[in-house]
Amino acid sequence: MENKSIAVLTSGGDAPGMNAAIRAVVRTAIAKDFRVIGVHRGYNGLLNKDIFEMNLRSVSDIIHRGGTVLYTARSEEYNSPEGVRKAAENCRELNISGVVVIGGDGSFRGARDLTNEGIPCVCLPGTIDNDIACSDYTIGFDTAMNTAMEMVDKIRDTAQSHDRCSVVEVMGRRCGDLALETGIAVGATSIIVPEMPFDIDKSIIARIKETQNSGKKHFIIIVAEGVGGVDKMAEYIQKTTGIESRATVLGHVQRGGSPTLRDRTVASMMGHKAIELLVDGLSNRVIALKDGKVVDYDITEALSMKREFNQKLYQIALDISI
Ligand code: F6P
Repeated sequence: MENKSIAVLTSGGDAPGMNAAIRAVVRTAIAKDFRVIGVHRGYNGLLNKDIFEMNLRSVSDIIHRGGTVLYTARSEEYNSPEGVRKAAENCRELNISGVVVIGGDGSFRGARDLTNEGIPCVCLPGTIDNDIACSDYTIGFDTAMNTAMEMVDKIRDTAQSHDRCSVVEVMGRRCGDLALETGIAVGATSIIVPEMPFDIDKSIIARIKETQNSGKKHFIIIVAEGVGGVDKMAEYIQKTTGIESRATVLGHVQRGGSPTLRDRTVASMMGHKAIELLVDGLSNRVIALKDGKVVDYDITEALSMKREFNQKLYQIALDISI
C-alpha cells in the first residue's frame, strides 16, 4: 500500500466489543507503520470528513467499554451511487488508502461499493444478531446473550412469585440465534424463532399445559424479534390457559454493557487480521470465525451465503425444557 494511511469506522447498530476491535485495528496498523484515521458516525464521517488522527493512546481504556468510541450511524446519503463516489473522492483527498469497516451486512454492502470505487476495504462482523452467514460468530453476540439471560433471570423471579407466564421478546432482527441460545440458558418452555414454523396452540399452549400437568406453575416464553407480537401472545395465553401473563420487550439493553471476554478476544483477533489483509494488498474481504479459526471471504461471496439455523440445538431445547 503506497501512502500508508488506514481509516477505521463503525457502522449500523452498535455492538459490545466494537471498541476492542477498533483498538486492535489501531494498534496493529501503527505497529506496521501506518497512519490511522478514525472516522466518526460510520459512512457519514467519510462524506462529511468527520475524521481525526488516532494514536496508540486514542484507544487506551476502551477495551472494556460497550458502544463505540467512533459513534455509529446508518447513512442515507451514502446509500446512493453519488454518495459512494463522494466518499471515495474524500478518501483519495485525505490520502486514505484502506478502510476497515466494523458492522453488519448493510455495512458490508457499503464496503463492497467503496472497494468498487477504488478504495480497498476489509470488514469485521460487528452485530449482536449473529446473522452474518459466512461467520459462525459476530462481535457482540456473546455479551448480548449474557445480558438477555441476566434480564430474563430477573423476570423469572417475579414470574415465579406470582405463578405467571412471562413472554419475553429478544432482539436479533430476522435471526433467531439470540432467542435460541438465551431460551436454552433460561430454560424457556417455548422458544419462538423466525426460522421454525410457529403455531401458538402447538408451540406454546400445548407445552405450557404439558409442563403444568407435571407441576410447573410459572413459565418463560422467549420470542425472537423476527416473530414479535409478544403482547398479543401474552393475552392469548392468559385467555386460553387462565395463567396470568405478562409481555416484556427487552430492547436496547441488549446492545449495551461491557463486552464479555469472548467478544473482547474475538474482536481483537479479527481487528488484527483486518490489518494483515490490507498490508498484504487484499481488499473487499470480510473477516469471519469458522470452526474456531479466523478466516476471510470475498464480500460479494459472503453476502450471497445463506445462514443455517442450528436445528440440533433447537431440538435439544424442545427435549429438555419441559
Ligand atoms: O442489528 C442490531 C439490532 O439491535 C437488531 O437486533 C434490531 O432489529 C435493530 O438493531 C434495532 O435497531 P435500532 O437501533 O435502529 O433500534
